[in-house]
Amino acid sequence: MTRTDAILSKAQARDVASLIHPFTDLAALGRSGPSILTHGKGVFVYDSDGREYLEAMSSLWCVALGWGEEELVEAAAEQMRKLAFVHIFAGKSHDPAIALAEKLKEIAPFPVGKVFFANSGSEANDSQIKFRWYAANAKGTPARKKIVARQGGYHGVTLAAASLTGLAPVQQSFDLPLSFARHVSAPDHYGGAHPGESEADLVARLAAELEALIAAEGPDTIAAMIAEPVQGAGGAIIPPAGYFPAIMAVLDRHGIGMIDDEVVCGFGRTGNWFGCETFGFQPDSMSLAKALSSAYVPISAVLLSPELSEIVEEEARRIGVLGHGFTYTGHPVAAAVALKAIEIYQRRDLVGHVRRVAPLFAARMAKLMDNPLVGEARSVGLIGGLALVKDRKSKLRFGEAARVAQACGRYCLEEGLVVRPLAGERIAVCPPLIITEAEIGLLFDRLERGLQKTLDWTTREGLL
Ligand SMILES: Cc1ncc(COP(=O)(O)O)c(C=O)c1O
Repeated sequence: MTRTDAILSKAQARDVASLIHPFTDLAALGRSGPSILTHGKGVFVYDSDGREYLEAMSSLWCVALGWGEEELVEAAAEQMRKLAFVHIFAGKSHDPAIALAEKLKEIAPFPVGKVFFANSGSEANDSQIKFRWYAANAKGTPARKKIVARQGGYHGVTLAAASLTGLAPVQQSFDLPLSFARHVSAPDHYGGAHPGESEADLVARLAAELEALIAAEGPDTIAAMIAEPVQGAGGAIIPPAGYFPAIMAVLDRHGIGMIDDEVVCGFGRTGNWFGCETFGFQPDSMSLAKALSSAYVPISAVLLSPELSEIVEEEARRIGVLGHGFTYTGHPVAAAVALKAIEIYQRRDLVGHVRRVAPLFAARMAKLMDNPLVGEARSVGLIGGLALVKDRKSKLRFGEAARVAQACGRYCLEEGLVVRPLAGERIAVCPPLIITEAEIGLLFDRLERGLQKTLDWTTREGLL
């Protein structure tokens, strides 16, 4: 299947003439035009031709409560009527921001001193970096500025966050990374293990790699490590058992903190409220976004340990002002929607629901191995990743240039299913948390057909 020069609809032509699209093959988009979505209900979205898609990516790992959730709409409308906006700079505040900070402190899986709000995952992670630098200066350890991230990690696209993101296109031609960023290997057993290396051996090797990096850089130059419990945009990479405890042991030995980027994993995705609980580690700060408001409005949060919040506040007191914050920090409408989303997660026991349906999700993921294109199918909770291979036995890949994952994404669309092709010839699946068992069945029936069409295409094109 190749992209043909389609006759663009009016709306598509207006789009191509006016919009710069993020993370898009802009040349191909100019030829095919975007698919224009008009509405959604539950786990389904609909395009301008009236076609239905099961949105098995929650639209970029976001819409945990699905589309058309009236309680969130009402929460936004009510707050807009009451107090649409006031900032929280210089002595002002409002109830939604206060209540949301309290709620996040209450549900956090580690001791939290205070909460800072931003609008996106990138801003949350940039704030994390700035707070670590501020703290290092306050503590009289100004050399502690480097942050360790992982290849394939995704932490956003603002200058500092993009420096930590371990994906080449995010840095290429943007003069990045900045000098504070260091990267170690991803915990990807399927894609990264040496021949014959067990998961336990890989974990030991990755812990040793981190130890060696810290020794080479000097422990007193490193402020923190940042990690996603499951690497989302890097391929839905689920770490081997024991990975985080081994990494944390190294960090703890050197007094280096952990920034837990829960932008994808937070709020039940992995079968616990937070991914760090599923993978057995305790950070000293955390970034949240996406499912925080089920993405109905933009909001993100930085949760800081009591020690970190204390140091940041002390330094701000010394300087006279905390010189950081966004106009929309703690936006009342966003905070009200996020509070409602969390109330719904609790009232409807969404985490319990994820645990109840996860075995079916895992079984259907595993069954995808019936298709010889699938080299690995691994999942936790309601997030899964597939590796597409030319030859399963030797793990031989097609090569990114063959664009097999992209073809699979398009064939799944033909079947009425949105999945996400990712770098590394991988496919991610991450449906809304409200998905029912019947809808999981539909999701995988469509995915099986999309994969079969991809297999037929690779055969036709002589790629196998
Ligand atoms: C784990 C993680 N962190 C940070 C970000 C950046 O968030 P945003 O795109 O809202 O800036 C993302 C976005 O996908 C993400 O997946």
